[in-house]
Amino acid sequence: MDHPSLPPHRSSAPGKLILCGEHAVVYGCPAIAVPLHNVRAYAHVAPGSPGCGVSFNAPDLQAAWLLDEHPDDPLSELVQATLRCLNVDPLSVDLSISITSDIPIAGGMGSGAAVATALVRALSNYFGRMLSRAEVSDLVFCSEQRYHGTPSGIDNTVIAYEQALWFVRPKADPLCALTSELRSPVSVIEPVEIAAPLTLVLGDTGIRSETRLPVGEVRRRWQADPVRYEALFAEIGEHVHRIRSALAIGDILTLGTLLNANQTLLEEIGVSSPELEKLITKARDAGALGAKLSGGGWGGIMFALTEPSFATAVASALRDAGAAKVMETHVPVALIEDNP
Ligand code: PMV
Repeated sequence: MDHPSLPPHRSSAPGKLILCGEHAVVYGCPAIAVPLHNVRAYAHVAPGSPGCGVSFNAPDLQAAWLLDEHPDDPLSELVQATLRCLNVDPLSVDLSISITSDIPIAGGMGSGAAVATALVRALSNYFGRMLSRAEVSDLVFCSEQRYHGTPSGIDNTVIAYEQALWFVRPKADPLCALTSELRSPVSVIEPVEIAAPLTLVLGDTGIRSETRLPVGEVRRRWQADPVRYEALFAEIGEHVHRIRSALAIGDILTLGTLLNANQTLLEEIGVSSPELEKLITKARDAGALGAKLSGGGWGGIMFALTEPSFATAVASALRDAGAAKVMETHVPVALIEDNP
C-alpha cells in the first residue's frame, strides 16, 4: 500500500441556517445562509489495517461498513470521488474513517452537507493536498444530489465557505428542472455584509423531515400552477433583497418584519406545518422581532430573531411550546472591505 505512515487527521465543518429564501432558491431566486459554528460534524481519517481498504465507522448513525462492500453508499462514493480529486487511487489505500456529528440529522441544519464537508477536508488534510473551498463545495454538492435529487447547492456552499453568504443558483430551464439532470451549476456566491450581530434562537420541532419531500411537493405545485408559484418565488426573492439591505445597515427591526413576511410566503407555498407555526407564534409572543421556519420545512427547525435581552424568554417560550431542542446562536458582524 502507498500511504502506510501518514499521521491521522481530524477535520470539522459547521452546521448551517438558511436565513431566508429557501425553496425559491431552487428556482433561481436568491437566498441567504449563515454557518452555525457551535454545532459541527467531525471526520477522523487514520491509517487502516493493512489490506483492508477503507473502513467507515459512524456511531451516530449506528453504522459501520467497508467501502469494498458498499461502494454505492453516498459516503463511500464521496470518499472515492475525493480520493480521485486528490490523485489517490481508492484501491491503493487502507484508511480508517470515523464520522461523528452534533448536528441533528434531517433537522434543517445541514447535517449531511457538514458530514460530507468534514470528510472531504479530513481526507485532503490527511494526504496533505489542499483543496479550494470551491472544490470542497463541488464534491459535497455531488454527494448532496444523492440525498436530495436536485439541491440548489446552498447547503454545501455555506458550509464549505464557512461564512454568511448570498447565494443564487442560475435559473434552470424548467424542463431541465423536471429531471435529475441538473449538474453543479455555476452559482452566484457573495459574502453578505452584517453590520450588527444577530441573536437567534433556534427551535427544533423534533419532527424529522427529508428535504426532498417538501421540495418535490413544491415542484408538483409549481408544475400545476407555474404562474402563481413563480409570482410567490419572485416575492420571496424581493424580500431576500430587502433582508440583505437590512443586514448591511444593521436594521434588525426591519429584518424581523421581513423574516415574518418570508414565513407567510413559505406558508402559502405549503412547506410550513402546525408544529412549526406553533413555535413561531410562541416566539413572536415572547418578544421575538421575527420568526420563520428554516430549510425544507414540514418539520425540522424554526428560528427567532431577538434582541439579546429577550433571548432567554424566547428560548423558554419555545421549550414550553414543546420544542424538542432549543439553541441560542449568534451571527457575528461581517464587514466587506471595498475593493479599490
Ligand atoms: O432542508 P435543508 O436545510 O437542507 O434546506 C433545503 C433548502 C431548500 O431550499 C428547501 C432546498 C435547496 O436545495 O435549496
